[in-house]
Amino acid sequence: MIVRPAKNILGALRLPGDKSISHRYAMLGAIAGGATRLTNFSTGADCASTLSCLRQLGIEVIHTPEGLIEIRGQEQLQAPADGLDCGNSGSTIRMLSGILAGHDFECQLHGDESLSRRPMGRVMTPLRQMGAEITAADGNRPPLRIRGGHLHAIEYAMPVASAQVKSAILFAGMFAQGQTVVDEPHRTRDHSEQALRAFGAELSRSRNRVAISGGQKLQGIQALIPGDISSAAFFLCAAALFPDSNLVIEDLLLNPTRASLLDVLRALGARISVINLEEHHGELLGTIKLEYGPLKGTTISGGQSVALIDELPVLAAIAPYTQEGIEIRDAAELRVKESDRIALVARNLRAMGSECEEREDGLHVPGNQRLHGAEIDSGGDHRIAMAFSVAALRAEGDSLIHGAEAARISFPEFFQMLESVVER
Ligand code: S3P
Repeated sequence: MIVRPAKNILGALRLPGDKSISHRYAMLGAIAGGATRLTNFSTGADCASTLSCLRQLGIEVIHTPEGLIEIRGQEQLQAPADGLDCGNSGSTIRMLSGILAGHDFECQLHGDESLSRRPMGRVMTPLRQMGAEITAADGNRPPLRIRGGHLHAIEYAMPVASAQVKSAILFAGMFAQGQTVVDEPHRTRDHSEQALRAFGAELSRSRNRVAISGGQKLQGIQALIPGDISSAAFFLCAAALFPDSNLVIEDLLLNPTRASLLDVLRALGARISVINLEEHHGELLGTIKLEYGPLKGTTISGGQSVALIDELPVLAAIAPYTQEGIEIRDAAELRVKESDRIALVARNLRAMGSECEEREDGLHVPGNQRLHGAEIDSGGDHRIAMAFSVAALRAEGDSLIHGAEAARISFPEFFQMLESVVER
């Protein structure tokens, strides 16, 4: 994909449904009584991986003529005939492991080359403590083999802040005897808690502790999935770069555990207004407008790095165009995402002529730099491909994004939608 420089970003967009919520509604719909009907389900390949695993587990998944996804819940999944292919999706393999831990059959979960390098010990440890038998390849990497059933509740303090791990434990907790408690070191996205409540479960939260009792019955829902804010991040960051930009995004997910990007863009100097706000099944959504303001600089660390984990690549990619640069700390998790996102961001920034300091747990990108178009290596990582397509819009000269097709993992429409709002 060749990305040419732009003059500004102008227009209104409505985005495909949030990836995190789509995974959760599909998985909970599968184990709920009755049908779950989902409007604006994520169009990404990751959520398609979740749906195809659910089909292999005996669940009927229908794409209706009106464009809805209907999931016919079964309460109990069936043993699959073959291994479950989770593709590129960490959310699929980790969260589904929690549900499978509650089922008395053996199954295997595997994925692509990138997923096969990612750490699974973080879900294996708590699920084993609950009574599931789980084995993995060397270094606790996929494939995973799980034999579940007969779980008991645990109290678990997570060593890493991970919404996927928290979700796996809460989902397993639904099948366990007693009350399961998860304590997170930093607040992570709370879609599983919101979704469990929407499907009829009771759970309680106090500060960073969430508790759920086993044996609760779920009931299917009808839901509109709000637009994916991590996909919106690319357009918002692009618009923030040009003085004449004016970008509206409708029906966007604005859950406070996901919307820190708006705080950071405001702190940098962009002008953002929220035009209306609604709530569906505990998830906030609304229309937002972004207009230009000169971008200063900022430091992102601690809980803010956790909350922004998927948006850090694009923030780092626009950092050279800010006045004072951006420093990212406490984000070592970026090294174990779909790629080593710290190393790839640093390499691609340098390819564009940017200075940048790579640290074990983050990056320091100085501001006030001029970048040139370059050959970008996405490393097969969707967020790297899209982040550097944004950086390329303000560079001098064209950029060639190798592996741009990786965008299909979360956002197949990305390049087409970008063209619809770019002015040259
Ligand atoms: C996700 C949680 C995050 C995020 C991933 C989706 C989720 O991962 O990076 O893209 O839907 O729960 P971790 O929870 O492992 O940090």
